[in-house]
Amino acid sequence: MMAYQITLIPGDGIGPEVAEATVRAVDATGVPIEWERVEAGARALAEQGQLIPDDVFAALEANRIGLKGPTATPIGGGHQSINVALRKKFGLYVNFRPVRMLPGLKTRFHDLPLDLAIFRENTEDLYSGLEHEVVPGVVESLKIITRNASTRIARAAFEYARRDRRAKVTSIHKANIMKMSDGLFLKCCREVAAQFPDVQYNELIVDNACMQLVMRPETFDVLVMPNLYGDIISDLTAGLVGGLGIVPGANIGDHHAIFEAVHGTAPDIAGKGLANPTALMQSAVLMLAHIGEREASVRLHNAIYQVYAEGTHLTGDVGGKASTTEFTDAVIAKLG
Ligand code: NAI
Repeated sequence: MMAYQITLIPGDGIGPEVAEATVRAVDATGVPIEWERVEAGARALAEQGQLIPDDVFAALEANRIGLKGPTATPIGGGHQSINVALRKKFGLYVNFRPVRMLPGLKTRFHDLPLDLAIFRENTEDLYSGLEHEVVPGVVESLKIITRNASTRIARAAFEYARRDRRAKVTSIHKANIMKMSDGLFLKCCREVAAQFPDVQYNELIVDNACMQLVMRPETFDVLVMPNLYGDIISDLTAGLVGGLGIVPGANIGDHHAIFEAVHGTAPDIAGKGLANPTALMQSAVLMLAHIGEREASVRLHNAIYQVYAEGTHLTGDVGGKASTTEFTDAVIAKLG
């Protein structure tokens, strides 16, 4: 069988440690992958003079699939976010984050059967970067909502709901205030919902949604929303299940996809062998499913869950004493 070519961006800080751990676990599934390693982030800037060197774009263009660790974006100096640049370049309009409780992990909500899927529009809204000073003391920031982008994210959410046999899609908005922009987003969601009569559809205003997510998170299923609400709500829901060190993320377009840990570079523990690679490993579970390796995806998912259920090889951030390597060895042992 031909090997898959996948671009690996280890990133900065704990990035190389969690990337190495994830590559070991994915390779242990037996799926043949040739990893093409390229550097982006602070190290790339220091060594090659560019935050995203040209070979990163070339590798992602050719391989179409990427796995990315956290990268440090220097603050100020006009540096654009690497993640935003990659999403724009490759038209990665879906930001998908599944949020599930890991077995055995003690969190505030650990006794609830949480299984949420967040679909965040990834290309427009207040992230258009269109800001200007109208007159001194007055700044305008443009919120762009288009029919095209709203319809394609709604479609992605409903198609997922149907495929994954989910009961309900909830659209989150503030159309009571932003009647035109969020109004258009809702209109597009309703039009798509009408094409999926087998999936229930409802709508919630974003502030109410936040309260409900904290009080009754188990009543939610698939959620779809514009970029800014998605940014905030996806972190809120990550907090329900143990934080950003746990949850995976995927940025998906029609031709390319980048799977990434959503936590940062954790400079406080970088290089000490303490980092938790769960988020990137769970992103690799999504990646394997995306490339059609469902069986390996399920095996890796089950192996991670078994290690959490046993609770004896967990890293410090989730209450254990294991190193990155010990946790990874335990996952690999469960792969059989
Ligand atoms: P951070 O997520 O790096 O760290 C916050 C806290 O969580 C720290 O105590 C850290 O030790 C802990 N932590 C995070 N991931 C962990 C893991 N996998 N295992 C164990 N502990 C973990 O957030 P912070 O400090 O705000 O950002 C540091 C750098 O990361 C900045 O340069 C920022 O630009 C970058 N960053 C990159 C992101 C990305 O590439 N997706 C996302 C967020 C931040």
